[in-house]
Amino acid sequence: MKTIIEPFRIKSVEPIRQTNAAERAAILERAGYNLFLIPSDDILIDLLTDSGTSAMSTSQWAAIMRGDESYAGSPSFYRLQSAVQNLTGFRHVIPTHQGRAAERILFSVLCRKGHVVPSNTHFDTTRANIEFTGAEAVDLLPAEALDTQALLPFKGDMDTVALARLIDTHGTGRIPLIMLTVTNNSGGGQPVSMANIEAVSAIAREAGIPFYLDACRFAENAWFIREREPGYATWTPREIACKMFSLADGCTFSAKKDAFANIGGLLCTNDSKLAVQEKNLLILTEGFPTYGGLAGRDLEAIAVGLDEVLHPDYLHYRIASTSYLGRNIADHGVPIVEPPGGHAIYIDAGRMLPHIPPTLFPAQSLAVELYRHAGIRSVEIGSVMFGEHARNELLRLAIPRRVYTQSHIDYVVEAILEVNERKASLGGYEIAGQPEFLRHFSCRFRPLA
Ligand code: F0G
Repeated sequence: MKTIIEPFRIKSVEPIRQTNAAERAAILERAGYNLFLIPSDDILIDLLTDSGTSAMSTSQWAAIMRGDESYAGSPSFYRLQSAVQNLTGFRHVIPTHQGRAAERILFSVLCRKGHVVPSNTHFDTTRANIEFTGAEAVDLLPAEALDTQALLPFKGDMDTVALARLIDTHGTGRIPLIMLTVTNNSGGGQPVSMANIEAVSAIAREAGIPFYLDACRFAENAWFIREREPGYATWTPREIACKMFSLADGCTFSAKKDAFANIGGLLCTNDSKLAVQEKNLLILTEGFPTYGGLAGRDLEAIAVGLDEVLHPDYLHYRIASTSYLGRNIADHGVPIVEPPGGHAIYIDAGRMLPHIPPTLFPAQSLAVELYRHAGIRSVEIGSVMFGEHARNELLRLAIPRRVYTQSHIDYVVEAILEVNERKASLGGYEIAGQPEFLRHFSCRFRPLA
């Protein structure tokens, strides 16, 4: 059957508030046309991020009730540790309050000025945490993956020729680790093939450089491997995920994505000496190693979520639903980053609104119009976020896990197609005021006539 159904039923509901177009126009004006500044009560469908916004299951809520809040040695930690070790095989499991805390600890221990850290694409916080140590973060995507319209099955694959060249140029002494982001969030939620993970792992082992996965969306990546890579169709998602982790020496992880948790992260490693240094830093800023800045109940929710996310019915629905949104707008003339990724659809606003130059923020204009028209919140990933470093003018529609139904998705499709019909009437924006750093979170805009 073709109909996509949610592999769950709804036991507890959360109302969302309808507003009318006049109210939304006033809300936009008050927020300086920056959707980050709109109270979430005024949003009908919130596609700002898939991070920390998942709906938890009855089993997760039940586990939360048995969360043990002991400062040291909580059984909730041991349950999490064994769930993570069964999945990843990593010797040391260090909980953190979210993914970027794991990144900060890992890079503080490993990176120095003069170091270079390659990845397929570093996520913003990963890059920022590397740069904060004085090291350089380098993205190694092949040229064809940068074309938003190229239809490649594994558009997140790292360019391994470029990786080998980078190691030759800098020497192993200057490369403290190699990272691979699965799926590649900044590249459109595109998956990385097992063959590529194996190739990067082999290069890293040969050079004696530790290899880490940024594993935030490991389960979605595993599903793409099952669907697209020859030889894996009969594997379970768990078997694929286990193999992915077995090729690495450690990982950073945000439990706010593929663990269905609202908060939490993990830093894992096989290196016992490193683990001691990491735990010392953890105690300084996060907490004792058996809670890492989380409540015992959070550890329980993550442990259960890590198991649930690998259920084939869930992953089938998840990837099909994201693709449904992408195909239904792209096949009706809205250019997206092709093919649809795992957790989000990215509209190529530069292509959709060629009359608005990057300096007047086409993706921001589209974000504002989608909110004004239908109460949908999305996020600009273009010149507002990256200034002159922006490669494309994208609008991300990130889909929270298990939160919205297919009828919500249909509503989003309809809204986007209606805005697309009158896209020529959309105008540009200029910045009316901005802070020194990370301006996209708080700057204010002025619409141009
Ligand atoms: N790595 C990747 C690939 C991510 O997408 C994120 C977060 C992080 C690391 C950091 O994890 O938020 O728990 O500290 N991405 C969110 C997003 C914020 O909206 O894409 P965190």
